[in-house]
Amino acid sequence: MPLTPQLAEKIRRMPKAELHLHIEGTLEPELIFALAERNGVALPYPSVEALRRAYAFHDLQSFLDIYYAGASVLLTEEDFYDMTRAYIAHAVADHVRHAEIFFDPQTHTARGVPLEIVMAGMERALAEAEIKLGFSSRLILCFLRHLPEEDALATLDAALPYFRSLPHRLIGVGLDSSELGHPPAKFARVFERCRALGLRIVAHAGEEGPPEYIHEALDILRVERIDHGVRAIEDEALLDRLARERIALTVCPLSNTRLKVFDDMADHTLGALLDRGLAVTINSDDPAYFGGYVNANYLAAFESLDLTAQDAYTLARNSFEASFIDDRAKRALIGELDRFWQAS
Ligand code: HPA
Ligand code: ZN
Repeated sequence: MPLTPQLAEKIRRMPKAELHLHIEGTLEPELIFALAERNGVALPYPSVEALRRAYAFHDLQSFLDIYYAGASVLLTEEDFYDMTRAYIAHAVADHVRHAEIFFDPQTHTARGVPLEIVMAGMERALAEAEIKLGFSSRLILCFLRHLPEEDALATLDAALPYFRSLPHRLIGVGLDSSELGHPPAKFARVFERCRALGLRIVAHAGEEGPPEYIHEALDILRVERIDHGVRAIEDEALLDRLARERIALTVCPLSNTRLKVFDDMADHTLGALLDRGLAVTINSDDPAYFGGYVNANYLAAFESLDLTAQDAYTLARNSFEASFIDDRAKRALIGELDRFWQAS
């Protein structure tokens, strides 16, 4: 069934949560150039258009190389504030009520930018948005998996003061960057420490990596959600387990096609995973690099796959259910979603 204009409008306007969003992946080329100029950083691209043209990826690594280069313009608290504010504006426009936002401290501390600057800039924007816009948010610190576990342990130590002073915002840890060759088991010790600290746990797994990495994320890291996880479709027993245990997948359709996890959106397995009873959610991953924010991801999936209004409701409901907010806040947001669908 083709996507009708009416359903497209419902999808755009329905309240939703975003659970898989890298704040460094929201840096639009225009902001990269503006920050480069403000900070006197030289960029290897002559113009915004030339930089945007470089966003032609053939796999995860070809994206990550450009994504880390883009993040090199972030130096001051103001830079992190401006980046976070720009994302919030896009999210609010897409009717995102709650976001759980990833950030990569090692990308910044390795360049000599103190964690204090990263945290202060993001927190100022998020606290302001909470008060002025009612925009709810949490932060999830991601360890870079291409680096040794010792670096992740040191990063956790450096972040302990923020887990203590911002418990309402900084709630958990994740695992991102180059997946192949860096299985979850490499980070068993650091995640064990995070669990002992009572932190919420997620990890990227099964984006490019095999289903075995999803098993490791569940069994060794003890994740509560799987980021991407689309390669679970290759493993029947794993699908049964994910459905039974209600482990949510934070799927990112435009990311998956831009990074050639699927050649074409019509090949995406999101619909099959939903039909199999999995708690699938739709998210934007790195919207500045992959062609759109969360609504663009919903609409791209609905345009190419056989999905219904009931699926749209389920996806948004899953996004609230799988979030790390308390039950009362969850019920309130799901109530808002239910009233939205009943009103039409
Ligand atoms: N996968 C792994 N690492 C990442 C991603 C992703 O989709 N986006 C930003 N870092
Ligand atoms: Zn991601």
